[in-house]
Amino acid sequence: MSALLLGIESSCDETSLAVVNSRYEVVWHETSSQTDLHAEYGGVVPELASRRHITELFRLLKRLKEKQGHLYKGIDAVAVTVQPGLIGSLLVGVEAAKSLALSHNISLIPVHHLKAHLFAASLEQKLSFPFLGVIVSGGHTLICLVHSYDDFSVIAQSRDDAVGEAYDKVARVLEYGYPGGPVIDRIHQQYSGNYIPFPQPMKKKLDFSLSGLKTAVVRYVLSSNTLGEDEKKRVAASFQETVLNMMLEKVQLAIRKYPVESVAVVGGVSANRGLRRKMQQLSVPVVFPSFEYCTDNAAMVAGLGTWYFLHGLKIMKPGSAGFLKLNASPSPEF
Ligand code: KG4
Ligand code: ZN
Repeated sequence: MSALLLGIESSCDETSLAVVNSRYEVVWHETSSQTDLHAEYGGVVPELASRRHITELFRLLKRLKEKQGHLYKGIDAVAVTVQPGLIGSLLVGVEAAKSLALSHNISLIPVHHLKAHLFAASLEQKLSFPFLGVIVSGGHTLICLVHSYDDFSVIAQSRDDAVGEAYDKVARVLEYGYPGGPVIDRIHQQYSGNYIPFPQPMKKKLDFSLSGLKTAVVRYVLSSNTLGEDEKKRVAASFQETVLNMMLEKVQLAIRKYPVESVAVVGGVSANRGLRRKMQQLSVPVVFPSFEYCTDNAAMVAGLGTWYFLHGLKIMKPGSAGFLKLNASPSPEF
């Protein structure tokens, strides 16, 4: 069966639209990032984010319609992120998707943002099941055992902060701006000195804990009156080194407990070059999405939507009871 799916992503601070075909090829994709808008606050301001989604979503939709009219006219269904995320941001995407589905009389497919991140690894390569899916983003840190895109279990998660959240907090106290990941990664790559031995909590356990490490870094910074540029770089590089060691140990522990043939690392933090290098030490092959599909994007939403569509799952006809009731939710519950 051939199909063309439009994906909409607006759960946090990226507005994104993509069109994916039934061979899972991304035939059109544009993401508009709001980092400029939130940079001065050191993190995402929900109210500002939803307002920007309203203007950006319709700007991108207009571009798709005008520049790729043949794709726009051929769309069979709209897949949209409905959870988890910032509620105001999600609502903009869900309302736009419902309106499009109703006005064009096409189906609607609700997508879970974290499952879409997992699917990102399959956009460019075929993964055989079961595999371990490691989701490391700004809001979530978890390891899943993936039997199928419709059947997987969470085997480990963070008991407190997400890895991306810790990156952003550390970058904020070091005055490196938002988002923190890319700048800390660059510093870590260029650093050749010794590392500060920051604590690595919950060693030998599958679950993660980031708040102790985050607090240790913040205390270290605040306890020194002024940190020179070199010392700031040492703190940033030591933080990333601790995170990379933690990630490798946790995932290796998970592989020992749940033998699998491959691991997929996804989510915003999977763009980290140090993490990509470190994970090559795992005892099984590891895959990462292209950089474009690591941070929030609609290609992964349209991709998973296509998988559901082709498997006859989650398809909501416009005007049906499920369609009318469909709403956004901030909950990460699967
Ligand atoms: O998946 P994502 O775009 O949004 C959520 O669903 O949360 O992830 C955003 C997070 C931010 O915390 C950002 O600092 C982090 O991903 N990030 C990185 C890198 N690029 C983005 N973290 C580490 N290294 C990077 N290169
Ligand atoms: Zn995300």
